Amino acid sequence: MEKLVPELTIRSARKEDLPVLAEIFEEGFNRELIAVLGRTPRRKLGEDLFSFLIDILGEEAIVATVADTVVGYIIIVPHNTSQLSRKFFTGGYWLKWILSWLRGEYGFRWIPLVRVVRVVRVLRDTLIFLRYKDREKGIGFECRVLCIAVKREFQGRGVGAALIREGVEILKNKGATAARLEVRTVNLPARRLYQKSGFCEVGKVRDSGGEWIIMKKSI
Ligand SMILES: CC(C)(COP(=O)(O)OP(=O)(O)OC[C@H]1O[C@@H](n2cnc3c(N)ncnc32)[C@H](O)[C@@H]1OP(=O)(O)O)[C@@H](O)C(=O)NCCC(=O)NCCS
Repeated sequence: MEKLVPELTIRSARKEDLPVLAEIFEEGFNRELIAVLGRTPRRKLGEDLFSFLIDILGEEAIVATVADTVVGYIIIVPHNTSQLSRKFFTGGYWLKWILSWLRGEYGFRWIPLVRVVRVVRVLRDTLIFLRYKDREKGIGFECRVLCIAVKREFQGRGVGAALIREGVEILKNKGATAARLEVRTVNLPARRLYQKSGFCEVGKVRDSGGEWIIMKKSI
């Protein structure tokens, strides 16, 4: 039985949630951000990322709230994920991000060349990653859980499990018969959460940051 926090509500993300979504993202992925950028970026980077996801995905960007405060999020993609990268370019988001970067709004206008190489590699990996998975025939499904994070003080209390349940329900209502996700091999809490939520390991892939486990759940 999950130790659900009282008054947990699940709803679609809104633009006014951007600051807290960026904060949860930064807290959950700070190690990865520092590994790539060499420092924690300004919150504007996370806000722009979630603003893009909310624009493109609408109700598939979901938050969990307690007493009207956002404590976690899940991003699900009920269609071919390469649409995300396509809309990133056709919607001009790439240009807005470059301009914000040049204006110093992300807090790292000047970074050493080695970091620039690392950022480019991560962006390249991400794009290849999204397209590559869509083409993978052996697994044969495209709906996926793209990202999930819960505020540290609310972790281990069932918020992540509740977000996954809601995400899977939305995918099911859209006619999906299976969902997939990728998780870093070293991310044991996330792997455990996914296992408990009914996802099974179906394969592995590698990128410049290391190994990912591919997991699948029939829905
Ligand atoms: C992964 C994450 C979303 C889990 O959220 P959560 O709200 O803590 O998850 P739940 O409370 O629903 O936990 C469900 C199960 O996950 C496992 N789990 C959660 N936190 C754990 C931890 N710190 N260590 C080990 N297992 C953990 C437990 O098995 C738990 O089951 P239990 O209640 O029987 O103990 C959260 O740890 C997080 O935000 N991590 C940082 C961001 C991240 O890595 N996201 C995933 C990659 S996109």
